[in-house]
Amino acid sequence: MQKKLIDSHGRRMKKLRLNLLDACNMRCMYCMPEDQKFKKLSELLTPTQMKSIVSNLVEFGIEEVRLTGGEPLMHPQFRSIAKELSTCNLKKLAVTTNAILLEKEMDFLKEHNILNLNISLDSLNENSFNYITKTETFHQVYNSTIRAKKLGFNIKTNTVMLKNINFEEVEQFLEFSAKYDIEVRFLELMKIGHALNYYERHFVSADQIIERISKEWTLTKIEMPGDSTSFNYIATKDGKTAKVGFIASESKPFCNGCSRLRLSNQGTLRPCIMINEGPNISELAPQDYEAVLNELINKKPNFRLENTEVKMNEIGG
Ligand code: 5AD
Ligand code: SF4
Repeated sequence: MQKKLIDSHGRRMKKLRLNLLDACNMRCMYCMPEDQKFKKLSELLTPTQMKSIVSNLVEFGIEEVRLTGGEPLMHPQFRSIAKELSTCNLKKLAVTTNAILLEKEMDFLKEHNILNLNISLDSLNENSFNYITKTETFHQVYNSTIRAKKLGFNIKTNTVMLKNINFEEVEQFLEFSAKYDIEVRFLELMKIGHALNYYERHFVSADQIIERISKEWTLTKIEMPGDSTSFNYIATKDGKTAKVGFIASESKPFCNGCSRLRLSNQGTLRPCIMINEGPNISELAPQDYEAVLNELINKKPNFRLENTEVKMNEIGG
């Protein structure tokens, strides 16, 4: 019989966020400084190690893996990793990407049935997008997002809402959602790593966004699974229908239903995005998993810790 990981608050662990690498080809202003240094490939877990860890975790009820970074598509062995993991008996293998490199990976992802993509899209305005990401990739990202949707990928966009930068674009995002039938999600800026420098100046709450949207759009709440990070609405206006989600990590934390564990690019298993430590399981023997995992999940808080110095590109969004 399969073993299950249920913590002392009754939460069952089902999902793993796997950070493939810390490197990224963007420098989102709230995520990292422009002169950020990254680890060498030789310091990271290998595809074989990742497969072995994920296979062991599947025995304990992990059903879903999301590949994050940094930017996962930048990993030189991305395809080997995805191939290895696609044989791990998971219910879902998904990717969170900034989409700079998506165009050339679309066929591969489709072939391997990796259809769930969360794409970071912080602005629909070229200048703001380039300002936030410190790149000149707006058209590449925007066009790849729409093309991926047309090819049948299940796309959600993530927008970190920033006062005085992209908050003015809220309505434009809903129009975008209605036009392309893409779910747009607004993320509250989290007090994490580099973002601690921007929080006071740029934080916008989900309630502020909802208040603004509600002036013109009618919002109808959608039921979500208990471990969802977002709460979602259908928004309608003048015969147009948009799908919108909110990840309100600061104002309405969702720790109560959390079913996630996080594996770092070097094999540290963390019980929570806000906790900067955990056992290294890169060399753990299968028979030792049970004790290590049970100890770990009982360190998982069921309330939101205030803030953390951990870097977002090290732990994955
Ligand atoms: N707060 C909220 N979201 C963040 N992301 C990165 N850093 C933060 C932060 N401090 C987002 C990215 C990406 C997702 C993986 O996490 O923009 O969309
Ligand atoms: Fe890269 Fe994501 Fe950080 Fe932006 S938020 S710099 S895309 S890791």
